Amino acid sequence: MTVDLRVNIAGVEFANPIMTASGCCGYGDELATIFPLSKLGALVTKSITQNPRLGHKPPRVAEATMSMLNAIGLANVGIDAFVTDKIPFLNKQKTKIIVNVAGWSIEDYTSVCARLNDIPRVDMVELNFSCPNVESGLEFSSDATQMERAVRAVKNVFSRPIVAKLSPNVTNIVDIAKGAEQGGADAVSLINSLIGTAIDIETWRPRLTNNTGGLTGPAVKPIALAMVNKVHNQCRLPIIGIGGIRTADDVVEFLLCGATAVQVGTALFVEPSAPVTIAKGLADYLKRKKISSVSQLVGKVVRH
Ligand code: DHB
Repeated sequence: MTVDLRVNIAGVEFANPIMTASGCCGYGDELATIFPLSKLGALVTKSITQNPRLGHKPPRVAEATMSMLNAIGLANVGIDAFVTDKIPFLNKQKTKIIVNVAGWSIEDYTSVCARLNDIPRVDMVELNFSCPNVESGLEFSSDATQMERAVRAVKNVFSRPIVAKLSPNVTNIVDIAKGAEQGGADAVSLINSLIGTAIDIETWRPRLTNNTGGLTGPAVKPIALAMVNKVHNQCRLPIIGIGGIRTADDVVEFLLCGATAVQVGTALFVEPSAPVTIAKGLADYLKRKKISSVSQLVGKVVRH
């Protein structure tokens, strides 16, 4: 039996629902030495900002139980170097390219996205409104009206689909998703990392120079699944599910909860070829269940 792993989000067709999560494989060049990026549904880049950033001082990653903390501080090459140095490599890759964009003001987002609009190879932008590690980085992700305004502004300068990445560090994620929908977002991705910390008991200092960081990895998966399902039940936008995905079984859970596609992040640091194993495992699951297309799983969780 042949199974169809293709998924469509806002008119963009992905070869399979497995994407990389922003920040976990830079701009894809190192990952391409492990496996051909054509095996991915999409490559999602590290957040790009207007200016280059060195990010926070190390240590900026720390391990926690079944999880990881990071406070990178949006280190990236900036839009100019991204266009001149990274796009030529991405141009050659046979996968969809989603560029993640971060900023501090609406102008930051619109100026970067306007530049990306001129590069047809960029299939979508994903707006990082929710970096937990920069001051005042949370306004757009925790206020539905701000989210709506920011998405609408980007919509005016970027003509292809826009994904709003949502923070779990809010009172009600559905309100924020609805703000993104009102602003004209084509999809939402969730969840970004949860704010957490870890303390060195000898020095009494936090293990990260930023004091707190974003928590990711298998420990966050149940939280992410519940949030994906909640947004799926109350908002019409397609969902890209993110949070602790490590295996094909994890992906099936996200799809059943309402995600159309998923992103693999922290697992890449443990096993960089995880997306390939996961895509194969997903095809095997569909064959075993005699389901011809992966899209048939979306939102099919049976509630008690
Ligand atoms: C960073 C940004 C994020 O969106 C995140 O979830 C974790 C870390 C950062 O660059 O610090």
